Amino acid sequence: MHEGETANHGPRRTPSDMESGAMNRRQALGCLGAAAAIPLVATGSGFLSPARAQGQVAYTLPPLPYEKNALEGFLSAEILEIHHDKHHAGYVRGLNGTLTKLEEARASNDYEAIKALTRALAFHGSGHVLHTLYWNSMSPQGGGEPTGRLREMMESSFGGVESFQAHFKAATKKAEASGWGILAYEPLGGRLVILAAESHQQMGLQGCVPLLVCDVWEHAYYLKYQNRRADYVDRFMEVVNWDHAAQRLAEAE
Ligand SMILES: [Fe+2]
Repeated sequence: MHEGETANHGPRRTPSDMESGAMNRRQALGCLGAAAAIPLVATGSGFLSPARAQGQVAYTLPPLPYEKNALEGFLSAEILEIHHDKHHAGYVRGLNGTLTKLEEARASNDYEAIKALTRALAFHGSGHVLHTLYWNSMSPQGGGEPTGRLREMMESSFGGVESFQAHFKAATKKAEASGWGILAYEPLGGRLVILAAESHQQMGLQGCVPLLVCDVWEHAYYLKYQNRRADYVDRFMEVVNWDHAAQRLAEAE
């Protein structure tokens, strides 16, 4: 069974502007999550743009960018219908349901289930982001070769389009189980990279832009706090740099 299908939480409010507005370049730069800190490119039709309705954020299932039979010969209409209408929709329901539960946890200050909820957020959120990218990664007019800047980047990053294709296919074929092959832009080095996601629920949410991080590897605190990691995390807020987080938010929006 596709994991996304198990998601069955009640839908949240559906803001009308959820799919409106094109994604700009900054919004298109994402990351695998704070744990991996590897940026991904998220192209699409604004699916990452948060819609705010009554101060809350909700997600909706974007329509397929083409008819369900548009890829016949490669994928049947039946496959696209089940994959989009059932599996992808399940991720959207699960994401909104998880956000509701997180809201309830904050309201009651009850974080007993926080690990499971954080994992659910990563699972459903990444499922939604990756599927939206997937639909837009294919086109009935697709194929051929990239041109312009993308082609230049493939040449500088991989040595050419053919090398990219061989590398991408190899990495994608080796991704286990519910995996993904991913072509991404890494902004720190300004190059393209090929990544694979296995078990995309590993606490990262594809497409996010990190604003603030706290290192909880032992090397970060052990000489002072030893086994008292919670004390270190609590005191982190005494030195937190809000200005830098705000600057990153402004750049990401
Ligand atoms: Fe899928």
